Amino acid sequence: MFNTLKAPAPDKILALMGQFRADPRPEKIDLGVGVYKDATGLTPVMRAIKSAERQLWEAETTKTYTALAGEAAFHAAMAELVLGAGYPAERTAALQTVGGTGACRMAFELARMANPETTIWVSDPTWPNHLSILNFMGQAWKPYRYFDSATRAVDFEAMMADLAGIKAGDVVLLHGCCHNPTGANLTLEQWGVVADLLEAKGAIPMIDLAYQGFGDGLEEDAAGTRLIASRLPEVMIAASCSKNFGIYRERTGCLLVLGDAANREVTQGNLAFLNRQTYSFAPDHGARLVTMVLTDPALRAEWMAELEEVRGGMLGLREQLAGELRQLTNSDRFDFIAQHRGMFSRLGASPEAVEKMRVDNAIYMVGDSRLNIAGLNTKTVPLLARAIVDAGV
Ligand code: LMR
Repeated sequence: MFNTLKAPAPDKILALMGQFRADPRPEKIDLGVGVYKDATGLTPVMRAIKSAERQLWEAETTKTYTALAGEAAFHAAMAELVLGAGYPAERTAALQTVGGTGACRMAFELARMANPETTIWVSDPTWPNHLSILNFMGQAWKPYRYFDSATRAVDFEAMMADLAGIKAGDVVLLHGCCHNPTGANLTLEQWGVVADLLEAKGAIPMIDLAYQGFGDGLEEDAAGTRLIASRLPEVMIAASCSKNFGIYRERTGCLLVLGDAANREVTQGNLAFLNRQTYSFAPDHGARLVTMVLTDPALRAEWMAELEEVRGGMLGLREQLAGELRQLTNSDRFDFIAQHRGMFSRLGASPEAVEKMRVDNAIYMVGDSRLNIAGLNTKTVPLLARAIVDAGV
């Protein structure tokens, strides 16, 4: 039977990770997978997470099952983080998931259960795994234009022109902040225009919020999501704890579903059902740490301070890289790097130039020229700038 299987298409981000690990050159620079690295190249366990882990180790007396949809305290802490204090709990259902990817998958499943005819609209480009999952599910999807490859900014006019084709009951997937892979984001005013359109069309926004706190700040990065949540009757939000809590391998995420208060219990039941059919209970450890960090004032303050250090570091690297390129090219062609937000920027280099940088300089970025700013440090920025120029970008 298994002989009938065909090799799956490789995931380009994970394939690059393997290629990087196999490269023996000591000077190699990993700008591929979206993982934060400090100046020494380490992905540290955040200080507040480490403290919470110590406390948990002392206090935990059982490893028995928790709740199928995850613990209410985790739901409430995440809903408050994403939607702000005073969020509408009476119309918010929530699910603890296996990472942000799990939250996305469950959101797609829920949409399909509720409306088998739905089409999911995704930005072009988007995180490649969005499309891979949708294709695997056999779920209908359509792209909407998003990125202007000349200006490296959002092509809002094209985006709105394409979204004019959405139908009632369609789902529109939006990146809450720090757009992956481009780094180009909607302004709050543009979020308002998108909200108007979705409202008029009767479409359902689904927001993938994987990098809250990595762009302009925890509150600022949630502003578009909060605007949508305050305006639209039905909203899905897939929030990841991988990056902003640095707990990648713990696989911690949360799906929030806002709808009619009268139907909240039914939605909540369907979310728990989805967990049960897929893997039963989601892993507990990461969600418990996140809950502790968010609800203990001292841990929360420590976490927020470290997250600010991480964010500030990435902004500094953006400024430095744009500055180096300004000097080397004697132009402002690369100033967009300083304007983008989050971990990624799409450089706009050809696949050949990306490959040349890998071969000549041991610099690894995704083939569409997405680079992970957090993979740099102040010493490697000039090397990258030189390589970009040498590759003729
Ligand atoms: C990325 O885009 O690099 C991250 O979200 C990691 C992943 O799973 O692809």
